Parts: sequence; C-alpha cells; structure tokens
Amino acid sequence: MYQLGLIGYPIKHSLSPWIHEQFLKKANLSGRYTLFEIGPNESFAQVMEELKRKELDGFNVTVPYKQTIIPYLDEIDTEAESIGAVNTVLNDNGRWIGYNTDGKGYLRALENKFPKLLADKTNKILILGAGGAARGIYYALTASDFEYVDIANRTIESASHIAKLKMGKTKTEILSLIEAENKVKEYDIFIQTSSVGMNPNHEDTIISVNDIKKTSIVSDIVYQPIDTAILRQARSVGAAVHFGHTMLIYQAQYAFEIWTGKRVSIGSMDKELQLILEGR
Ligand code: ATR
Repeated sequence: MYQLGLIGYPIKHSLSPWIHEQFLKKANLSGRYTLFEIGPNESFAQVMEELKRKELDGFNVTVPYKQTIIPYLDEIDTEAESIGAVNTVLNDNGRWIGYNTDGKGYLRALENKFPKLLADKTNKILILGAGGAARGIYYALTASDFEYVDIANRTIESASHIAKLKMGKTKTEILSLIEAENKVKEYDIFIQTSSVGMNPNHEDTIISVNDIKKTSIVSDIVYQPIDTAILRQARSVGAAVHFGHTMLIYQAQYAFEIWTGKRVSIGSMDKELQLILEGR
C-alpha cells in the first residue's frame, strides 16, 4: 500500500491526486495520494515532523515550498540541486531524497508530441519568462544538448541568472521581450513559461507571435485556460501548438517512477485531463 501525497499552498484544487490515482490503477498497485495543505500561518517544521512520523513512501512539493523543503532532505539529486528546487521527495528507508521532475517531465511531454522536431538539436528555442518553471525547463534543454536556447524576460537579470545553469554546448542569448518579439522569425520552438495568459487574464500574451514561421511550435505551460491567447495566435498563423496540462502528467510520471520503480503509460490521460480542466 503506497502512501503518497502533496505539500503546498493552496492545493485544494490540485490535479495530482487524480493523476496519481490513475497511475496506481494502471500499475496495479494499491495506495493513497493525500493532500497536506500547509497554510501561511502553520509551522512548516512541525508538518515535516508529522510527515516523517507518517512514513510516507514519497510526496510531491509544490509552490511555495519547493525551496523550503531543501534543508529537511537527507540527500538531493544533482539536477534538483542545480535547479535549486525540489518537487518530488522519496522516502528511502527513512532518508528523504529530493528530486526535480518538472523540466524533464516538460521535455518528455513535448518530445512525445513532436518527436522529429525535438530530435534535431539545431532547432532554435526561445524560452519566454524566467521564473522557477523556466529554470527547470532550461536545465532540461541544455542537458539534452539543444544548441540554441535563448531566454527572453521582462527582468533581464532573472534570465541571466538562469543562463548560468548552462551545460555542454548550448549557446544562450538573453533578450528583452521587445527584442524577442522583433526576431520571432528566427525561432523554431517557443516555450512560454510565465504566468501571462493565465485566468483571469486570458487575453494577455507575453509577446506577440503573429510574425512567427508557420513551421514553428508554440508551447505554453499555462493550463488554465488550456487554449491560451498565445496558442490561439500561433494557430491563426498556421503554427503548431502544445498544451500546458501535458507537463503535469509527465512530471508526475517521473515522480511515480521514482517512488514505485514503475513507468506507467499515459494512454488517453491527457485527453481525460483536458476534459476535467474544461469542465471547471
Ligand atoms: P514560476 O516560479 O511559477 O515560474 P514566477 O517565479 O512567479 O513563477 O515567474 C513568473 C514569470 O512570469 C517571470 O518570468 C515574470 O517576469 P519577471 O521576472 O520580470 O517578474 C513573468 N511575468 C509575470 N507577469 C508578467 C507580465 N505581466 N509581463 C511579463 N512577464 C511577466
């Protein structure tokens, strides 16, 4: 019986219980995925003690605790350490080990939808936004040897900070949002990682993608709404789009694998999740 869960705030509407319950069923395992909401007036340290006592097999960590959790870990994997954030904890015989599956999960979701495009490491990628999500995604892209990964953000300094994570042969240019908008034709893949376009501001786009190449892909990690304004704009010029909710499923697939050693198949879960989100 797997005891799994999630810490974060607010998490009442989290989709993770649904996702992991599907995974448990698919893997033929029994278990439970419980929400542990830790409000701003609660003691984080005390909840950590409780979780230790409960002997969970593993748990996910979401905002605002992806950094707060780090001092409570016995070990942190290299990727999570470089990114500076943990979204998955494994209880390994009483030792808590921290991982970050966000960037890898995102990339797996994108590769699944566009395998050919992702196999060509010379495709030019532009990341829009430079928050926590961008950090994990940038790390995953450079770790898988993409040659050109530029970052555009409202605050240049945050983008420069992310570029320090660079590995291997990736070349990175830091751009303002205006500079990025003026050279959109140069890019093959756009990855929108900021909160711009999220409900209730569903008409906003971080930059205009009206002038992008028809052959390009626009991916948005925002999933509320699923069909964001930037994706609608991309489609109107004939470009391909990639929806944000798929990242949720694939980062969870990695986490589930860390906890149980089993990689479950996603099947039609992305379509089912889309229906759940659209029904909200
Ligand atoms: P997360 O950790 O979830 O990725 P975050 O750290 O709050 O979220 O990052 C949000 C990103 O959205 C940042 O890149 C932010 O830009 P700044 O670094 O300049 O703050 C970007 N962002 C949020 N609102 C924006 C807006 N109205 N216009 C442009 N960028 C915006």
